Amino acid sequence: MAARQLLTGRLALVTGGGSGIGRAVCQALAHEGAKVVVADRNENAARSTLDTLLQVNQNKHVMKLVDVSQSQSVHNLFSSISHQLSQVPDIVVNSAGITQDALISDLTEQMFDDVLLVNLKGTFLITQAACKLMVSEKIQDGSLINISSIVGKVGNIGQCNYAASKAGVVGLTKSVAKEVAKYGIRCNAIMPGFIDTPMIGTIPEKVIEYFKKQTPLARQGKPEDVAEACLFLASPKSSYITGEVIEVTGGIFM
Ligand code: NAI
Repeated sequence: MAARQLLTGRLALVTGGGSGIGRAVCQALAHEGAKVVVADRNENAARSTLDTLLQVNQNKHVMKLVDVSQSQSVHNLFSSISHQLSQVPDIVVNSAGITQDALISDLTEQMFDDVLLVNLKGTFLITQAACKLMVSEKIQDGSLINISSIVGKVGNIGQCNYAASKAGVVGLTKSVAKEVAKYGIRCNAIMPGFIDTPMIGTIPEKVIEYFKKQTPLARQGKPEDVAEACLFLASPKSSYITGEVIEVTGGIFM
């Protein structure tokens, strides 16, 4: 008899699912039997991820367009999922995120607001909508997973806005974990280190090489490294873990 997959029957919503870490998370969850909603503001990117999922299995995965920073868009996303799938997402991964880097002397108010709006407010809006539904529909074993960043712990030159947003995600995660634990819902965060995705495409090669040398495991991270941690937090294998922050960094800044 074939072994039962970890996430059979579960519905996973992954924001930022069109690229990088979000895409790898969609694939890892689908491989374990979850039906996946690929949510992104970039339609082509979301479609590309969806195409890869349909090669994994026939779980009727879907894609949805959303701007996580806009409450109306988030509201429309959850209504559309309810209407189309008649199921409440019981795994929610907040991976949508952006950077707009500059030294503090050059950082504009707009750059600060833009990054906080997507990375922190976006995580709040999705998490709030998901929690309301999970509680009202009495979802058991719900798992919320927020992609923070190691930069939220140690800071980074040129990333005041980004580091602040990612530190904020940790505070949000722990507060939500305390609020929803009584409903059997868990909320955890992941702090990736430097992961090979389009997001870090503009970082000069010599900086990447420097960080590789500083990393005890001596390589750059892959999106799949983060996806494996996410899979663990989504699954019942982590059923006694909440309010936790897992660093997936190859040991840098331990
Ligand atoms: P990426 O740029 O490859 O993917 C981000 C995805 O989010 C894109 O598909 C983009 O269209 C989507 N997105 C951006 N703003 C959105 C919005 N307002 N609404 C909906 N979708 C939106 O980036 P990557 O590297 O996969 O990053 C994923 C998450 O991991 C982000 O939160 C990022 O901050 C975090 N992270 C990444 C690290 C890295 O080294 N790549 C390190 C630490 C954290």
